[in-house]
Amino acid sequence: MTQNVQKLIVIGAGQMGSGIAQVAAEAGLRVLLNDISEAYAAKGLNRIRANLERNVSKGRLTEAEMDAVLGRISLSTTLNDAADCDMAIEAATENLDIKLQVFRTLDETMPAHAILASNTSSLPITEIAAVTKRPAQVIGMHFMNPVPVMKLVEVIRGLATSDEVYQTVYELAVKMGKTAVEVNDFPGFVSNRVLMPMINEAIYCVYEGVATPEAIDEVMKLGMNHPMGPLTLADFIGLDTCLAIMEVLYEGFGDSKYRPCPLLRKYVKAGWLGKKSGRGFYQYD
Ligand code: CAA
Repeated sequence: MTQNVQKLIVIGAGQMGSGIAQVAAEAGLRVLLNDISEAYAAKGLNRIRANLERNVSKGRLTEAEMDAVLGRISLSTTLNDAADCDMAIEAATENLDIKLQVFRTLDETMPAHAILASNTSSLPITEIAAVTKRPAQVIGMHFMNPVPVMKLVEVIRGLATSDEVYQTVYELAVKMGKTAVEVNDFPGFVSNRVLMPMINEAIYCVYEGVATPEAIDEVMKLGMNHPMGPLTLADFIGLDTCLAIMEVLYEGFGDSKYRPCPLLRKYVKAGWLGKKSGRGFYQYD
């Protein structure tokens, strides 16, 4: 038996949250796009509108379909709005304390049947579930960036996640046009356990003077057929996020093979966070 999720609240209207709200609304769900300020939420909606307009200009969507998708999205600046939602997908900052607070509030606010999902890229689902009174209804739903384009959703089962909730979320991901892959709750899940050490190693290659960032990216793009080189991808993901994930792997496994490269730490300390700050391994103006 699976649940019928009709109304969804997405917490966080940044790059990931707005993408999730878009694919959910395209799948026919009513969506509340929540952020701490009206301005942040509106910025997320503008991003969705721009994506949909591009699809209209490319003939993949009609104006009427675009209006219908946008009509299913409302903005929210309070978690009290979650009171009549069937599900929440949290896509707030990758900070465990912030996420725990959001989950405590959602647990108090949302109806008993509601599912609480996190889009975390590496924080422990089991620990997040443990601060709620419904750990069987807490799950990881990890979308990839850019959400409207990337096919994968890692569905992460916490220790207590029920089969019914897993199945509901699996089916929801399919309804959103994604391929869902089942993963258990261990540091970095599968995606970032494999991806981040590769990115970290590419940063070591810069640090040790093995090659320039351009050369390293060229090797991986042309040699391994990756759509983006690892350093371009690191800038795209955000160097602060890359560092946070490496720290989770390093702490979670206690294995020195996951130690973050000192150059990555240095860039983050300098505020060189990649594309979003205008500078990372490359410069963006
Ligand atoms: N939002 C919506 N659509 C976007 C987009 C965005 N932010 N960025 C690109 N697109 C669309 C473009 O409109 C274009 O669509 P059409 O071809 O249908 O017109 C399509 O994607 C391809 O874009 P481009 O031609 O501009 O550029 P590209 O061919 O280089 O593709 C890319 C861009 C899809 C981002 C590609 O470079 C890519 O796949 N990069 C790797 C992305 C990746 O690895 N993501 C995972 C990051 S890790 C993560 O997310 C998890 C984590 O926990 C850190």
